[in-house]
Amino acid sequence: MIPESFIQELLTRVDIVDVIERYVPLKKAGANYSACCPFHSEKTPSFTVSPSKQFYHCFGCGAHGSAIGFVMQYSGLGFIDAVEDLASHIGMQMPRDASERHAMEAARRAPLTELMARAAKFYRDQLKQAPKAVDYLKGRGLSGEIAARFSLGYAPDDWQGLQQIFPDYDDQALAECGLVIVNEQGRRYDRFRDRIMFPILDQRGNVIGFGGRVIGDGEPKYLNSPETPIFEKGRELYGLSQARKAIHEADTVIVVEGYMDVVGLAQLGVENVVASLGTATTGMHVQKLLKQANRVVFCFDRDSAGDRAARRAMENSLEYLIDGKSVEILQMPGNQDPDEFIREHGKEGFQKLVGSATPLSEFLLREARRDISLATAEGRAALIQQVGPLMQKIAAPTLRLQLTRDIAKLTQLSPADVEKRCDLKPLARGRAAYVARASTRPLEHILLQVVIQRPEWVVRIPLELLSIEQEETAALNAIADLIEHGLPTGGAGQMLESFRGRPCETIIAQVLAELALEEPDLTTMEVVLGDAVERLRVRGVRSEIESRKKQLTPEEWRELLLKKQGGNRPAE
Ligand code: UTP
Ligand code: MN
Repeated sequence: MIPESFIQELLTRVDIVDVIERYVPLKKAGANYSACCPFHSEKTPSFTVSPSKQFYHCFGCGAHGSAIGFVMQYSGLGFIDAVEDLASHIGMQMPRDASERHAMEAARRAPLTELMARAAKFYRDQLKQAPKAVDYLKGRGLSGEIAARFSLGYAPDDWQGLQQIFPDYDDQALAECGLVIVNEQGRRYDRFRDRIMFPILDQRGNVIGFGGRVIGDGEPKYLNSPETPIFEKGRELYGLSQARKAIHEADTVIVVEGYMDVVGLAQLGVENVVASLGTATTGMHVQKLLKQANRVVFCFDRDSAGDRAARRAMENSLEYLIDGKSVEILQMPGNQDPDEFIREHGKEGFQKLVGSATPLSEFLLREARRDISLATAEGRAALIQQVGPLMQKIAAPTLRLQLTRDIAKLTQLSPADVEKRCDLKPLARGRAAYVARASTRPLEHILLQVVIQRPEWVVRIPLELLSIEQEETAALNAIADLIEHGLPTGGAGQMLESFRGRPCETIIAQVLAELALEEPDLTTMEVVLGDAVERLRVRGVRSEIESRKKQLTPEEWRELLLKKQGGNRPAE
């Protein structure tokens, strides 16, 4: 299955002009490109490609769409094959289980998570019989309650300990989920031995991996599960499953570096904490976190590695920033990590520290000014050079404006000059804003935004695929009803009126408020709608596969996969 974020990243990285140029010679015509339409026969060009909107449109036959849509339409490829084709041209690696050829493989996830769950239980049981492991945890100030909350365990000091619960120790699946290592001679042995075990859970609470800490000193300090079909480190966060409730309550999520930081902070009452899994903070993490809370605080150790990590986190966050949400960086004082800090300064001390975190915009400016003297023209020019590429990534309009003004002050330029020097593209209607919004919003929300502006387009949405858990769904259905019975023609305001007092009034008013500052043009809206419907369809088939995968016959598989491709072509 292709993760949504992959498609979004793909669409931000491909240029539709390059894509179409591969098939159709294009001529520059003002800001756009034109050609004779490849989808109907004509003598004068009415086919245009807009680089700024990343959209093509034929005024002759009405063909239109995104880069993905073009490849589908031109080569007759299905959705997934088109994505694969585009990705391969720009050297983007399809995620491991991305294509439909791997859909079968995805059906194998369930047995793997089951093995992991059994292993986790085994490690947990072993902990009770291992006084030295219990002593270690106690020595680090952890109670039995916290150990239970995080399902901590102990992997015994035994090369084939797991054989006790997996009599079929040669089962390939044990190696596949990283519990067992097969060496060059074909010998099999447990990956984790004589270690404290931290199970890593996915959003649904399935065990998908482990981190194992050596007891006391030893190398490596932590051993982790390898990447497997069920464990992709750049996506997952340690502790999210346990922290969810606290994150909601605090509307803040704190991101730390270590397993022990999460557990240690929880022990002392700070529960809205997750850890990245020994990897750099990825855009995927940021997206995921911004869905959980309005405020995300990244903590980094104050050393050169921590400083580099902070900078990377900043760079990877910029494009996902959203006005009204706050991403902050906290550089730990002294040489303490969060676990050590809270032990010395207590819960309140730590909370206070978190309160002093630096907003990302401020961090950006501070980093950019490093080693630059603003007293000279050269220094001010250097600052512009530093911030330009960073500013280009920011899609949140208000934040970008604020920063532009700050930079203008520092460099003694006008904000307009800063925009020009930083090569900033107009935002409000742009792709970046759309992508940023779409990436953190449920599809239902995006669709409602479109439909509120163009109610008649509601008929283009497969309503049966909307999730009933989203409140937007009720609103979309109500609007569809309204259309059927003759829509009031007085615009969005009048539409809101006709829902007065009904349950969906709130969400409609909210979306109207969001849209108050924007007036996207028709073509952008087309793209938004087209993309959202496309994704909705993929999501629908995906969940159908999920729910039925166990009972499917091979014919049914084929049929489903075909449906997923829009019925274009069977998978080879
Ligand atoms: P730290 O070395 O800061 O560990 O690594 P820690 O959390 O403070 O551990 P304690 O307090 O000494 O027990 C931070 C994170 O980096 C990854 C782990 O995810 C760890 O939690 N790491 C570190 C590894 O994967 N392997 C290692 O050998 C060390
Ligand atoms: Mn530590």
